[in-house]
Amino acid sequence: MHGQSGPRVDVHLPPDVLAQSLRDDVRHGLDRAPRELPPKWFYDERGCDLFDEITRLPEYYPTRREREILAREAAAIVRLTGADTLVELGSGTSEKTRLLLDAMTAAGALRRIVAFDVSEPTIRLAVTALAREYPGTEVHGVVGDFDHHLGLLPTGGRRLVAFLGSTIGNLRPAQRKRFLADAASQMAPGESFLLGTDLVKDAARLEAAYDDAAGVTAAFNRNVLTVLNRELGADFDVTQFDHSARFDAAEEWIELGLRSRKAQTVHIPDPGLTIELAAGETVVTEISAKFRRRSVEAELAGAGLRPAEWWTDEGGDFGLSLSFAG
Ligand code: SAH
Ligand code: TRP
Repeated sequence: MHGQSGPRVDVHLPPDVLAQSLRDDVRHGLDRAPRELPPKWFYDERGCDLFDEITRLPEYYPTRREREILAREAAAIVRLTGADTLVELGSGTSEKTRLLLDAMTAAGALRRIVAFDVSEPTIRLAVTALAREYPGTEVHGVVGDFDHHLGLLPTGGRRLVAFLGSTIGNLRPAQRKRFLADAASQMAPGESFLLGTDLVKDAARLEAAYDDAAGVTAAFNRNVLTVLNRELGADFDVTQFDHSARFDAAEEWIELGLRSRKAQTVHIPDPGLTIELAAGETVVTEISAKFRRRSVEAELAGAGLRPAEWWTDEGGDFGLSLSFAG
């Protein structure tokens, strides 16, 4: 390294490992019915920028509602947890997280920040900004996949692990169960887990949140095809796919997909795949599960965490829960 030492960044997903993992996901997900891609591939630099734009859309209420709860409860969270270290999973820009960091600073408690995300450029930007804004605090970035690398999270201090933005809803139920068990098993007694979950509500509002009038979510969704074109040399014609967002009332999740506008053949040279898409066939790109208090608390307890607090915004749109390990 050079003389100027910035914040430490551990990279558990170097570019070659990332590329291999993308090839595996494409081979396993696209060469079967129904076709599906895991959502982590949305988040290249353009994807991260588009997501940022999503959080400010009039239809996309979850970010504002979660921020409302955090603004109201941050001081209580700091008091209840006694944490000196904030670990954030799927941290993105850590924008809302600053409410917690400011409350920790005000309480004289903040020692360390750990930001964990699959996107290396996002982590580098975030830790640089955090180190500047919270001088005297140890800032540590981790580039990893929370399906594989939770065991590599730095330990020490009294940690509050935050998983915000209802990102947990983007995991399938079995994957979610594994994630929670993994996260709980990494935590020492007395450490705490702060989880943001979007709540079940009427289908029209939910569908609008994932299908905005300005078309930003559609652009975000289609961007995953651009990622495959760039990284794997695929030849998806991005204009030949319609964005779809539908609330599945039985599963209580939004299913996001890209619907083929016509019968088309796509070549993906890197894993050597040729896929024949029928007209109207949908590639599932993400689910976003919607939750209820009872099911969230049952899942936390099932993972070995003790649910302690449950907060919602005034309108009851979004839930934030605090639970403890041990
Ligand atoms: N926490 C922020 C960002 C949510 S968007 C908020 O509440 O607004 C979801 C974030 O999770 C993105 O930054 C994305 O890069 C990250 N992410 C998605 N899949 C991931 C995975 N498998 N492992 C680690 N991070 C992941
Ligand atoms: N965790 C967020 C959610 O499920 C992520 C998200 C918001 C998202 N809008 C999206 C993911 C649109 C894909 C497409 O609400």
